[in-house]
Amino acid sequence: MSFRAIPITIGTGISFFIDSCLRRNDNKRVTKMSNPFYNIEEYILNHSDKEDPILAELNRETNLKTLRPRMLSGHLQGKILEMISKMINPERILELGTYTGYSAICLAKGLKKNGILHTIEINDELENIIRKYFTKAQIENKVKLHFGDARNIIPEINEQFDLVFIDADKREYIEYFNIVFDYVKSGGFILADNVLWSGKVIDLESPDDEYTKGIFEFNEFIKNDNRVEKVILPLRDGLMLIRKK
Ligand SMILES: C[S@@+](CC[C@H](N)C(=O)[O-])C[C@H]1O[C@@H](n2cnc3c(N)ncnc32)[C@H](O)[C@@H]1O
Repeated sequence: MSFRAIPITIGTGISFFIDSCLRRNDNKRVTKMSNPFYNIEEYILNHSDKEDPILAELNRETNLKTLRPRMLSGHLQGKILEMISKMINPERILELGTYTGYSAICLAKGLKKNGILHTIEINDELENIIRKYFTKAQIENKVKLHFGDARNIIPEINEQFDLVFIDADKREYIEYFNIVFDYVKSGGFILADNVLWSGKVIDLESPDDEYTKGIFEFNEFIKNDNRVEKVILPLRDGLMLIRKK
């Protein structure tokens, strides 16, 4: 008995992909009665490392104290960001869009011994929670937190990066990419989050939504940019992996 080979996409936004994964070749629905892992996300998390207790605490506090906690990367995506960072073992990381610091903590786990992660957040009301968890995670000496618009701050940092994570305003992705490009080493990586935007990128009926338009145009722009290699991981809300040639 095997499952159909189809893309597995995790996340509330595009759950119809998950639903397809729960149908077997014989088209019988897998239920809790026949399988303890009713949900493919449950299965994946059950067979992956547990969420770091400090990240779990940050996840909880973000849900209690902020207005849009869904913006936080979360357990599965956080683990994948950590793994990617460990594979690259970067000396310099740049993150656009810190929010409460979840993804920064995950990415920092892959830094070289004396490596530094720069993270930029426009909303300075988040400072207390970010700094609290950078200290708990013992990365405060490896992280430089900047407040302001990433588009202004990237040139001020003026360093060369091995890894960049774009996760700020979806309407500004092309601008971020263009600004950051010269600061990425040849062979370096840019990760862009939310590139499937709850599946709206294939919904031609909503072209006037600025966020969808931003992501849609970014994806087209990267597709046609021959200076980079690219692939979209159908993870959560879509994670684009881009490598500068
Ligand atoms: C999706 S959240 C980031 C989530 C975080 N990376 C994580 O995975 O936990 C996006 C963040 O980008 C910030 N942001 C939006 N526009 C920005 C800009 N131009 N420069 C810097 N930060 C920005 C928002 O305030 C928000 O906190």
